[in-house]
Amino acid sequence: MSAKSQQASKSSGSVTLTDPSSGQALELPVLSGTLGPSVVDIRALYSGSGYFTYDPGYTSTGACESKITFIDGEKGILLHRGYPIGELAEQSDFLEVAYLLLRGELPNETEAKDFVDTITRHTMVHEQINYLYRGFRRDAHPMAVMIGVVGALAAFYHDATDIGDSTHRMIASHRLIAKMPTIAAMAYKYAVGQPFVYPRNDLTYTENFLHMLFAVPCEEYKINPVQARAMDRILILHADHEQNASTSTVRLAGSSGANPYACIAAGIATLWGPAHGGANEAVVRMLEEIPTVEQIPEYIARAKDKNDPFRLMGFGHRVYKNYDPRATVLRETCSEVLDDFGIDDDKLKIAVELEKIALNDEYFIERKLYPNVDFYSGLILKALGIPPELFTVIFALARTVGWVAQWNEMIEDPSQKIGRPRQLYTGAAERSFIPLADRG
Ligand code: ACO
Repeated sequence: MSAKSQQASKSSGSVTLTDPSSGQALELPVLSGTLGPSVVDIRALYSGSGYFTYDPGYTSTGACESKITFIDGEKGILLHRGYPIGELAEQSDFLEVAYLLLRGELPNETEAKDFVDTITRHTMVHEQINYLYRGFRRDAHPMAVMIGVVGALAAFYHDATDIGDSTHRMIASHRLIAKMPTIAAMAYKYAVGQPFVYPRNDLTYTENFLHMLFAVPCEEYKINPVQARAMDRILILHADHEQNASTSTVRLAGSSGANPYACIAAGIATLWGPAHGGANEAVVRMLEEIPTVEQIPEYIARAKDKNDPFRLMGFGHRVYKNYDPRATVLRETCSEVLDDFGIDDDKLKIAVELEKIALNDEYFIERKLYPNVDFYSGLILKALGIPPELFTVIFALARTVGWVAQWNEMIEDPSQKIGRPRQLYTGAAERSFIPLADRG
């Protein structure tokens, strides 16, 4: 068993809650972290007062202590282990960011080389995995295939994974980071009816992924460095994002002591939804639906109409009430990629115009609805030749790093317990069973 890490939050006073019916007062401690709002520690609320809190959607709830990622949604700041996302996207690469998220510090040269070597040597999947794909229809959504295949890894490594052992946890984490590109590329190859392409150890992580996606046995595939750099940047920008829906799912699933591969499959399932990682695919589909720049106002009006379910995909965020800092980086990358590929894309023109109109519209200003990371990532991936149904798969590949980092942190947390929220019950009060013959 590894030693549990120490909690780092500091006590900074208390708040007193007074029950209006009994007049009884309960003092609750306030805890402060390094950055961001302090929290009221309500762990003793129920035992001290008989009340639960009520917070559907967890808009005011901190579910854990974490040292991995910090977001200031009002200012549009995103830090991984203290480093601003813009600096990481400009100066680092995906595997270095993976090391940082997982281990807490940037690697030195030897550590970086060893990590790349370890990940590179875990990229192959058990040959038996190939046969799993054949059970899926060719037209299955690749996210559905990913959930199945990543979940199935639990069947390959179940006995060999003792989650209480930090070495076992690290091996499972390396396997997941290493095998996700292989599994994702196989999902694509299966869908298009091409042979699976095995990983190559002479390529970088991102080049290897592009190679497994686009190479065919009958000709040599040449990596385009602009394509590889843009893809690597997309991976960095999606690597972690604090306690979002899929990460919280991974933590919740992991809190029961479940197999890590099964927990990551649960994260992939959560990420798939259009309100979360599925939005990048939805952005491109929405842009395809808008025929011309002149028709944008019609769609803006629909997005504002409460009777119309249409929303501007790629706009708005639960935490960012400012420009998503990841969208700022990708906005630049988007024009670089389109310039380099010589694409004069009408959809980009629509996207730029849509952004301009929305940013100046009272409805969007009032609600602080800014473009999020998905608004530009979908356009870039499209320009790179990636089919829309793979967009969320690529998000899952990148986010696996965050998921495993958060999963490891959770297991090492001394205050970790099985996650078990309570509820405000509004169903029938207790009543007696009525036999079928007596029911009117
Ligand atoms: N288009 C139009 N109106 C919007 C949009 C949008 N994209 N997003 C929010 N609103 C409106 C809501 O209707 C609501 O209006 P109201 O106050 O008049 O009722 C208000 O803005 C607040 O929105 P909520 O849905 O309450 O905000 P919440 O934090 O629950 O939702 C979410 C955030 C899910 C991201 C939402 O903005 C959305 O659906 N966006 C489109 C999908 C998207 O781009 N998702 C990607 C998120 S980023 C990621 O996962 C990587």
